[in-house]
Amino acid sequence: MVFRMKERLAKRFEEEVQFFKGWQKDKKGVGAVIPTSIHTARRMASVINPGSGLPVLELGAGTGVITKAILARGIAPSRLVSVEYSKDFYNSLIQRFPGVDFRLGDAFQLNQVLGDRRSEQFDCVVSAVPLLNFPMNLRVLLIEDLLARIPPGRPVIQITYGPLSPVVKMPDRYVVSHYDFVVRNIPPAQLWTYRRCS
Ligand SMILES: C[S@@+](CC[C@H](N)C(=O)[O-])C[C@H]1O[C@@H](n2cnc3c(N)ncnc32)[C@H](O)[C@@H]1O
Repeated sequence: MVFRMKERLAKRFEEEVQFFKGWQKDKKGVGAVIPTSIHTARRMASVINPGSGLPVLELGAGTGVITKAILARGIAPSRLVSVEYSKDFYNSLIQRFPGVDFRLGDAFQLNQVLGDRRSEQFDCVVSAVPLLNFPMNLRVLLIEDLLARIPPGRPVIQITYGPLSPVVKMPDRYVVSHYDFVVRNIPPAQLWTYRRCS
């Protein structure tokens, strides 16, 4: 029991060090100093409908905290497509989560990154891409691209650290909703969802 706890703490420490190194290498791209907490990851994964039979799309997997929470929702690894921009994170993710379809590349270039899977429909999108570090026009383009890949009414869930939605409201194009504020995250995290207008 104590051994398992020590092992878990050591693993977490290792992930935090890896994350911090990633941040040192690319502050804008990584966008946070500490990995997403398990509490936030679980809240984000709670939007998944495991019964839909559709694959799930994850963006910005980093150290894999959210990846793990998605799989824990009962999503088989083969039903998860996960895009990560950093080669270091990607190399560690493919070792840690065998069977997940990790794609090394830019979430803003999804057709290219998804390749043979670019026309697939996903159940929902779970995104940790640090949107605040990108211009607003790109954020809107990304959300609209993601919404075209999921059924109407299904969400894109996005983590951010600011008080406002990181993507501007466009009531005639998509619906923005505040999903949760997670205090048990460093820094506290805001979760937003985006859905296509019906
Ligand atoms: C705030 S971190 C969160 C990572 C993860 N939730 C964790 O706790 O380890 C953001 C992640 O998005 C990735 N990222 C940044 N820009 C990206 C892009 N354009 N496409 C895909 N991933 C991107 C970064 O490399 C980083 O892993």
